[in-house]
Amino acid sequence: MGINAIDEIATELKNRHLKKGFIITDNGLISCGVYQKVANVLIKGKIPSVMYSDVRPEPTVRDVKNAYNELKRSGAEFILAIGGGSPIDTAKAISIIAKNPKYDDVVSLGGHKNNLNQPLPIFAVPTTAGSASEISKSFVITDEVNEKKIVCFNDKMLPIETFIDAELMTTMPDIVTLSSGFDALAHAIESLISIKANMFSDTLSKDAVKIIIKNLPVCYDDPENLEARENMAYAQYIAGLAYSNSGLGIAHSIAHAISGKFNIQHGIALSMLLPTVLKFNMYSPKAHMYKYIAEAFDIDTSNMKLEEICRAVVKEIEKFKNSFNVPKKLSDYGMLEQDLDSLALRAYEDACTLGNPREVTMTDIYMLLKKML
Ligand SMILES: [Fe+2]
Repeated sequence: MGINAIDEIATELKNRHLKKGFIITDNGLISCGVYQKVANVLIKGKIPSVMYSDVRPEPTVRDVKNAYNELKRSGAEFILAIGGGSPIDTAKAISIIAKNPKYDDVVSLGGHKNNLNQPLPIFAVPTTAGSASEISKSFVITDEVNEKKIVCFNDKMLPIETFIDAELMTTMPDIVTLSSGFDALAHAIESLISIKANMFSDTLSKDAVKIIIKNLPVCYDDPENLEARENMAYAQYIAGLAYSNSGLGIAHSIAHAISGKFNIQHGIALSMLLPTVLKFNMYSPKAHMYKYIAEAFDIDTSNMKLEEICRAVVKEIEKFKNSFNVPKKLSDYGMLEQDLDSLALRAYEDACTLGNPREVTMTDIYMLLKKML
């Protein structure tokens, strides 16, 4: 991690005797020059590679199949994923399929698979500060036919090495800064109050919440502020480590359900969900953890009762979200009341629901969604 961390890529590949690469990225990173910066390191190190850039945000089953076909043709020995969650998640899927072709329908990758052959090695260069896909044991693909998200769990496809160079993040468009930043904030907060949280995840998530609250507005107002970008790069990474060890909660369950059906970025969905979900979860055995979120907002809690602290946190998160130019309601994305039953069912069945600190029913989720229409 650090400025020019990418310069180490060629040496690391050579140390592992890896000779031919498949670079997976997106077209936005080609136009802003980020892809070329990384590719130059491979060229300088005389490591041949094939580039594939047709990765779209929230990649679908079809996107993964297309990328896999190109990977097969390339004969590559390793994958280098450059980008945010979408290229890295696509890399994870094709790295598994390359060595386990029985999953080439992609849909059957859902859930946890035992006895996988070791996937093709992945190296990652994250260019957003949020998804933490490079450290997460899961990845998400959109099943466009059934309009739902396929969540896959495994630690075999974790990148072997990740190169975090915040300078590559200064060209991030505002909407990506926001979406990935709110994703990181949701990882940190949901990990902090998860029913499965532990000492390790708590230590990381407490810090991550504070760093994100302080630095996301700076990155948004001053995109080239390298110090704030580095702070966000670090915070999203530790938030990823935290939630990989604690699980998440219903903000993520609902976000998976709605962004499977509507064209809404994961982090933007989470920005809308966080205040409502935090209000719901304040009546839970993890309410005492809200005081760490209060600290991040510099709220003086010394003379406050727990319920007052929780209410103050919900108010501050709402204010924080409203300080950015993000959509306010789910109906802005065409969501109607008649959609809520199926969305509530999908969110209820999502694996993240198990980490929620308050027991939740399908009716609860329906009512939360209704409030946000
Ligand atoms: Fe997320």
